[in-house]
Amino acid sequence: MICIRTERFPNLCYRKTGNGPAFVLVHGFPENGDLWRKVVPALSESFTVIVPDLPGAGESTFTGDLSIEDMADSLNLILENEGIDKAVVAGHSMGGYTAFAFAERFKDKLAGLSLVHSTASADDEEKKETRRKSIALIEKGGKDAFIRQMTPNLFSKKFKEEYPEVIEQQVKRGLQLPAESIIAFYKAMINRPERVSILSSANYPVQWIVGKEDTIAPPEKIAEQSKLSDRTFVSVYPDVSHMSMLEDEKKLIEDLKKFTSYCFGN
Ligand code: MLT
Repeated sequence: MICIRTERFPNLCYRKTGNGPAFVLVHGFPENGDLWRKVVPALSESFTVIVPDLPGAGESTFTGDLSIEDMADSLNLILENEGIDKAVVAGHSMGGYTAFAFAERFKDKLAGLSLVHSTASADDEEKKETRRKSIALIEKGGKDAFIRQMTPNLFSKKFKEEYPEVIEQQVKRGLQLPAESIIAFYKAMINRPERVSILSSANYPVQWIVGKEDTIAPPEKIAEQSKLSDRTFVSVYPDVSHMSMLEDEKKLIEDLKKFTSYCFGN
């Protein structure tokens, strides 16, 4: 693990493996960079793979409030620390919201944008209200109940039936996240703006990984957004919900590899 220390990010840590063009994998919520453990070894055969722990997750810390834009800035700091001026950035869900903010702020550094079960939309009012209720529950000490209730919803029906032990492992991973981080991430997601216009102005290829059963980044919504950019790649995964890196990692590896090779002209 490599860690950078700045005033804004007291400890900003990331993993780096492999050689070749830079590929950044940004985790979602309630996760850390270890989420990508099943796909990193294969991708490291072709790329320099950078896997951050976003501020507040894993080994990375934060002070004050946290915004999606702060998280995008943290990605830029990591690229600067590595002397990388062009990368493909793949973001899972909240990591995708971060990748959109990165695209808005550092467009010239993007060789490609991969949205893994993510969306350019903001939260609607109903979603914001649900998040506020969860924050209130966690503030009253209900973190465990919250993680236990939300985690199974990230997986397809079939996967839940076949691999209950993976769901339990995910619950344990979610429980490692401090309550303050969960609250900070939820507030950051509530406050994020819609970033659909990023897509129509994208001068880099855009990839969408879509789970047919995903209710957080539903296929119908992604179908609309995927029409907005010029060079678009869409892969729809049957029997997958929100977690292809665990539900169908082989297909995800293949799709990420193909897309990133295309972005770097190989
Ligand atoms: C995630 O996987 O990052 C979250 O489910 C995203 C969200 O709650 O919008």
